[in-house]
Amino acid sequence: MISKINAFKHLLTTYMAALPKVVEGMFNIFNPVATQRFVHNILGADDLQKNCPRLGTASILEILKSSSFEDIEIMGKYYDGRTGGTHNMLEDAILAFVCKTTKPKLIFEFGTFIGQTTRIFALNTPPNTKIVTLDLADIQTQHVIGKSILGTPEQNKVLMISGNSTSYDFSQWHGKCDLVWVDACHDYDYVVSDTKNAFKLVRPGGCIMWHDYRHTAWWSGVTRHLRELKPSYPNLIHIRGTTIAILQNF
Ligand SMILES: C[S@@+](CC[C@H](N)C(=O)[O-])C[C@H]1O[C@@H](n2cnc3c(N)ncnc32)[C@H](O)[C@@H]1O
Repeated sequence: MISKINAFKHLLTTYMAALPKVVEGMFNIFNPVATQRFVHNILGADDLQKNCPRLGTASILEILKSSSFEDIEIMGKYYDGRTGGTHNMLEDAILAFVCKTTKPKLIFEFGTFIGQTTRIFALNTPPNTKIVTLDLADIQTQHVIGKSILGTPEQNKVLMISGNSTSYDFSQWHGKCDLVWVDACHDYDYVVSDTKNAFKLVRPGGCIMWHDYRHTAWWSGVTRHLRELKPSYPNLIHIRGTTIAILQNF
């Protein structure tokens, strides 16, 4: 009986502690951006470990069925997620693991940003791997494109190119890429265009991965388009614990 009372007290204390935040969140209704962030945080915290009802979810070990466990490398400065970085440590580790396991010789990245993922690709691939990474021209962005990779020993594996992904001529890499990472603009029309190009870039037997597949409205362009693709690509699947979706063997 005492333990039931204690459990109830604990529950009550927890709810009371959360209440001000919930009320604050509800008042955000007058501020659309803050409301979206609030909802995103709740759903984002909840969803990523759960099975995605639309794409399905599996751990990266189940997806790649790898039995080789080489050391992975994650290096670089720490960037605060709200200002500089766009992904978490598990996602970085999974990208590194995919590279170690599949040993891609040519990687194409849509969206270099500060080059965090570019560097992870470079650190975890064989010495002769090339990584082509596309972003808008520096002048169109508020950050230094690729600053995490610039000046590092890994930089010699990387070709940084500038342009708008919707109009860029990718033909020299068509059918040649072992891994394509789609992580540029997340608006629906851009995701559709980048995904079409990713399918042209990937070689038969290669792999496409998308970042920011979420179950919330926050990154709705990625979520919406990948859900549209699922009926045609049954192997398209969400990687557990992340916002990454992967397609291989298609
Ligand atoms: C989410 S960030 C990429 C993050 C990076 N892959 C990483 O994880 O470190 C998206 C990047 O895409 C770029 N971008 C947005 N629209 C683009 C477009 N139409 N063409 C090329 N790059 C674009 C932005 O400038 C931004 O740097």
